[in-house]
Amino acid sequence: MNEKLKQLESDFKLALVAVENSVELKELESEYLGKQWKLKAILAWVKDLSIDDKKTVWVAANALKNEFSELLSQKSQSLEDAYFKDIEEKEALDVSIGFASQKLWHKHPISHATELLEDIFISLGFKIEDGPQIEDERHNFDMLNIPDNHPARDVWDTFWISDTINKHKKSWEKYLLRTHTSPVQVRTMISQELPIKIIVPGRVFRYEQEDARHTSNFYQLEWLVVGEWVTFWDLKWTLDTVMKQLLWEKTELRFRPSIFPFTEPSAEVDVSCQICSGTGIRDAKKCSMCSGTGWVELLGAWMVHPTVFEGCGIDPMKYSGFAFGMWIDRIAAQRFWVSSSRMFYQNKLKLNEQF
Ligand code: DAH
Repeated sequence: MNEKLKQLESDFKLALVAVENSVELKELESEYLGKQWKLKAILAWVKDLSIDDKKTVWVAANALKNEFSELLSQKSQSLEDAYFKDIEEKEALDVSIGFASQKLWHKHPISHATELLEDIFISLGFKIEDGPQIEDERHNFDMLNIPDNHPARDVWDTFWISDTINKHKKSWEKYLLRTHTSPVQVRTMISQELPIKIIVPGRVFRYEQEDARHTSNFYQLEWLVVGEWVTFWDLKWTLDTVMKQLLWEKTELRFRPSIFPFTEPSAEVDVSCQICSGTGIRDAKKCSMCSGTGWVELLGAWMVHPTVFEGCGIDPMKYSGFAFGMWIDRIAAQRFWVSSSRMFYQNKLKLNEQF
């Protein structure tokens, strides 16, 4: 009987070596261990043996069965390893090949300008904040000291969200596409601890008549600094430092008094136009970027209005702050000498491929 088991064992091992894939392995398994297992046929003899011999054979047969199972599972593992190794070799992809010489993408000039600005501000210790592009009236207007019927609302030609959504809302809850990044000032002052030192780059929308400087969708960068003893000199120093790093050394800045309901006092800041070097004339024609004035309005700014502070729960007798709203498109146009910011939205490869 033992002889028969030994023979079975060596047959099994030989067959196992010949197995090349998982299908053959399954067949071998069912041949030796399945319902019609070979061991079973051998064991048919057992019934004629004495009880002691029966026991010995059963023990040996069981040991053999366990050994077969173990060998089958080892084989299965090695087949699987070989299968994946094969795939790895056949499908190996060397991603380093062929890319060095090709530039397959170009950064959009607005992303370029935004990243330049972010780097400068981060080096000055500012944090970057974000806010929703679909804003409510309260944050976009009311809390910035521009209540309903305030004449200043006319300055921001607004895209309102459809009437089906807005008609059930109270006046200050109506939704709109944000007209500036200033609402993020309010959101930050309400939710964050003082002191605050943030910038907010982002997309804004206005119902504009388009020309070289105006598009109905453009990018702004808001800056806000709030703390004790924040003064106009901090504002001036920050502005000088940023502009010197961003534009050319010869750039001149011009402050003009202005009115923004959320700052008091307020100013608009112009830079000398880089496109026409401040002359107002380019290619013997009026420069379209600065409308021939030699100056480009780049930002609105100054000290945060006490009413805005109060609305956000900040004591204006204790704290002060300054805020800016800057036109990234115009910065990009000036920095990269693009004569009309409208070109940024025309998807012209000729322009984008230069970056
Ligand atoms: N939000 C203003 C606009 O879009 C720009 C602006 C002016 C932002 C003065 C400010 C500021 O933070 O202080 O026209």
